[in-house]
Amino acid sequence: MKFFIDTANIDEIRKANELGILAGVTTNPSLVAKEGVSFHDRLREITKEVAGSVSAEVIAEDAEGMIKEGKELAAIAPNITVKVPMTLEGLKAVKAFSDLGIKTNVTLIFNANQALLAARAGATYVSPFLGRLDDIGQNGVELIAQISDIFDIHDIPTQIIAASIRHPQHVTEAALNGADIATIPFKVLSTLAAHPLTDKGIEIFMKDWNNRK
Ligand code: E4P
Repeated sequence: MKFFIDTANIDEIRKANELGILAGVTTNPSLVAKEGVSFHDRLREITKEVAGSVSAEVIAEDAEGMIKEGKELAAIAPNITVKVPMTLEGLKAVKAFSDLGIKTNVTLIFNANQALLAARAGATYVSPFLGRLDDIGQNGVELIAQISDIFDIHDIPTQIIAASIRHPQHVTEAALNGADIATIPFKVLSTLAAHPLTDKGIEIFMKDWNNRK
C-alpha cells in the first residue's frame, strides 16, 4: 500500500514529501476552501512539489460541465488526476476522461456497487470513505475488503484509495484489506512513525552511550 496525503496545504505537503514516502496528494473542495488561495495556483504549486498523482476535484454537477472543468485541471500538469463525484453524471464524465487518456479518481464511494460502476466507466482510482462510514455505524474497512475482492475476481485494474482516514488503525486495516493507497491527513500521517517504546528505547540507548566507560 502506498501513501498519499489528503490536504491542500502546501507546507504539510512539503513536510510529508521530505519523509520520502509520499506517492501522491488528494484534495477536495472543502480542503481547498480552507486555504483561501486560488485553486489553480495551488495545484501548480503542488504538482511542482510532488511527482505522483495529484487529485483535483471538479465542482460542476453535470457531465458536460465536469468534462470542461476536468480538461482545464488536467492541462495544469501531467500528474493531475481529475476527481469526480460518484453520480450518474460523474460516470459519463469518467468515461469521457478515460477515452481522452485523462486519469480519474471517483470520490464519495460508500458501497461496492458504486466502486464497480466507477471502475467499469474507466476510473483510474476509486475512493471509498472509511471514516464517514464508521460515523454512521457502518464498517468502512469491510467495504475496502469487498471492493478489493471484487476487483481481484474480475481482474479490474482500478486502484483503491482508502479515504477519510481518521486514525493509525485505519491505515493498518486498509493495508491488510487490500487498499492500494491510503490518503491520510497530515495529523494522522505524522503519528504513524511514533511508538512510546521507540522513544523509551532511544532514551535508554542515549543514557547508556553517555555513561560509557
Ligand atoms: C478523499 O479524497 C477525501 O478528500 C477525504 O479523504 C475526505 O475525508 P473526510 O471524511 O475526513 O473529510
